[in-house]
Amino acid sequence: MPDKLLIFDTTLRDGEQSPGASMTKDEKLRIARQLERLKVDVIEAGFAASSNGDFECVKAISEVIKDATICSLARANDRDIARAAEALKPAKSGRLHLFLATSALHMEKKLRMTPDQVFEQARLSVRFARNLMADIEFSPEDGYRSDPDFLCRVLEAVINEGATTINVPDTVGYAVPELYGHFIKNLRERIPNSDKAIWSVHCHNDLGMAVANSLAGVKIGGARQVECTINGLGERAGNCSLEEVVMAVKTRRDYFALDVGINTQHILATSRMVSQTTGFVVQPNKAVVGANAFAHASGIHQDGVLKARDTYEIMRAEDVGWSANKIVLGKLSGRNAFKQRLQDLGVSMDSEADINNAFIKFKDLADRKSEIFDEDILALVSGESVMRDKEQYGFVSLSQHSETGERPQACVVFTVDGKEVKSESDGNGPVDASLKAIESHVKSGAEMVLYSVNAISGSTESQGEVTVRLQNSGRVVNGVGADPDIVVASAKAYLSALNKLQSKADRVAAQG
Ligand code: KIV
Ligand code: ZN
Repeated sequence: MPDKLLIFDTTLRDGEQSPGASMTKDEKLRIARQLERLKVDVIEAGFAASSNGDFECVKAISEVIKDATICSLARANDRDIARAAEALKPAKSGRLHLFLATSALHMEKKLRMTPDQVFEQARLSVRFARNLMADIEFSPEDGYRSDPDFLCRVLEAVINEGATTINVPDTVGYAVPELYGHFIKNLRERIPNSDKAIWSVHCHNDLGMAVANSLAGVKIGGARQVECTINGLGERAGNCSLEEVVMAVKTRRDYFALDVGINTQHILATSRMVSQTTGFVVQPNKAVVGANAFAHASGIHQDGVLKARDTYEIMRAEDVGWSANKIVLGKLSGRNAFKQRLQDLGVSMDSEADINNAFIKFKDLADRKSEIFDEDILALVSGESVMRDKEQYGFVSLSQHSETGERPQACVVFTVDGKEVKSESDGNGPVDASLKAIESHVKSGAEMVLYSVNAISGSTESQGEVTVRLQNSGRVVNGVGADPDIVVASAKAYLSALNKLQSKADRVAAQG
């Protein structure tokens, strides 16, 4: 009988640590629901003690998600652990994830603690946590660069205190597959009580080997949990990508001989939701979820695929949620057809009011664009569209004039706390003029650190999806806007980023 490989998703915790990827509570809730639909085993919902905002996110996710274990990260101290346990109280199944660095470098330079002090703190923190919750994960941070003898001592002690999962992070992405696999194997063989815990891998992608290292940890090391994120989002170069690791284990079941519980048909919708929420665009040649992942350009390949699909395809596109990109709906489609399509795409809305709101936007789009693709619908229902009434700034309308040889002018109408304002400016181009018009009224003072445009579907009739990254007082946020008119998409993206700056400022203020 094959074993089960547990999928621990940390998009909402480690993924959110990417500069600019911070998410609001509503956005995190939507992604958590999507992860539940995807059937991940564990959702790491945040780091409850890090801010009141994170505490509220972990609590809210614990209240609504029933089919996955909800986990909160905590430093290995009583205050953090108690706070995480409090946030997890409503969870049907909760997990405390404690971490403490064990590498000589981290202990000496960062923690300024001796190995004996770290050993004691690790042991006592797990003892404390175990009195609050049965499901305890322990991570020796920078584990892969730690002295194996010391690591064995610490891990044996925390398992004795009741840790049920032992996660071995390659925190800085330094590992190579064979060595990492044997590192885990060696720990499991040397630690006398290692069979009392599930072993887990957590790999960062600094050298582009996070997925390979994780798989080696599974195959050679015997780990039975992989920590990963949607689209490989995460600190610096990111984490192990969920879609890649899952499809590798499924496609090469002959080699791994493991079951994974993931409903792979929801992979693409989840990837798009995370990309549109964070503004982190998926590269076209990204495995599994990139736009070209199943596209065959060369004549020889096309010919082969037409004759027998498996000549050049090792996975079926529909198994990970790709449809034939057919026209799904048009302006005559009704609310029921729209609702059904949302369900087929794996998008669930909280209430009939949200569906109505999205349907109005769909009708508006269908008036301006004759063919509506799945990608358009996913863009429509992504974070920027549905939560509008709770936000400080909202787009209303825009007009602009540009002519060769003349400086473009724009006039933007938008709402500030529900009240309409109108603002005008000129600029280097129509996009520049429109964003300057908004900024001249709002006076956020934010610096734009990224502006990018991406066509949602193939043709010039496509909606443009714009990402704007703003930085202000050390805070970095991404705003995303979609519209067939890229100037309008840009204004929407800018307003969405301003809303996030505001909401992040509220979260930071709440900590004080
Ligand atoms: O990369 C890391 O070491 C982590 C731990 C907190 C698990 O994210
Ligand atoms: Zn990490």
